[in-house]
Amino acid sequence: MSDDAWRPALYDRDTRFVSDLGAPLVDVLDPRAGERILDLGCGDGALTVTLAERGASVIGVDASPAMVAVARERGIDARVMDGQALAFDDAFDAVFSNAALHWMPRQDHVVAGVRWALRPGGRFVAEFGGAGNVAAIREALHGALAARRIDAAPLDPWTFPTTASFAALLEDAGFAVLSIALIPRPTPLPGTLGDWLEVFATRFLDAVPATERAALTNEVERRAAPRLRDAVGRWSADYVRLRVVARAP
Ligand code: BEZ
Repeated sequence: MSDDAWRPALYDRDTRFVSDLGAPLVDVLDPRAGERILDLGCGDGALTVTLAERGASVIGVDASPAMVAVARERGIDARVMDGQALAFDDAFDAVFSNAALHWMPRQDHVVAGVRWALRPGGRFVAEFGGAGNVAAIREALHGALAARRIDAAPLDPWTFPTTASFAALLEDAGFAVLSIALIPRPTPLPGTLGDWLEVFATRFLDAVPATERAALTNEVERRAAPRLRDAVGRWSADYVRLRVVARAP
């Protein structure tokens, strides 16, 4: 998010599954003792800690001062930094990123920064929202706002690339793409879709006066329910992950 709308306590309560689902990506990265690793978009540091536990020397960066403060409380060397303006040169053996890049519209700038942050031959292992991610939620948000004569397009903070477009960005920057895939991952939510919206979709909800927020949330839920709520009322999110492994030149 461009402003610091993240609220770590709410994030921890409603979205711990984000880092839980990212755990297998740590195995893909396979961090080794002594390696220098950058966690790009480290959030509250829940996964960064697991990299450090494997003996790597880890720095986390995130655009949210609130999240960085929580990561520091976990003992992580975390810094407030925009992932679209990374300021490292030949500093890391690997760059790792989970569930962060879809918040960064200038993904070409991200890739350029990652390339300079890595030593020659260093690896970039990332997973984030890919083409079609949260399509049902996005459609419900845009539709509910359009019904209030609000154009959601300029508010929409998410960038979900195709494998072809993201691979092209990497190759243009000199990376060798070792693997890249879209992985549909319908994900049960711990609470309601409204709870999810309060953490991740504040840019949309803030477009209406506070007095209309609950009505907007209800309408988004009503629109999304046929695709995302099951017969006993449990919600899931229609996540589609883009997972990529690439090697720097
Ligand atoms: C995601 O992890 O895919 C995601 C999270 C929040 C908003 C949009 C996408």
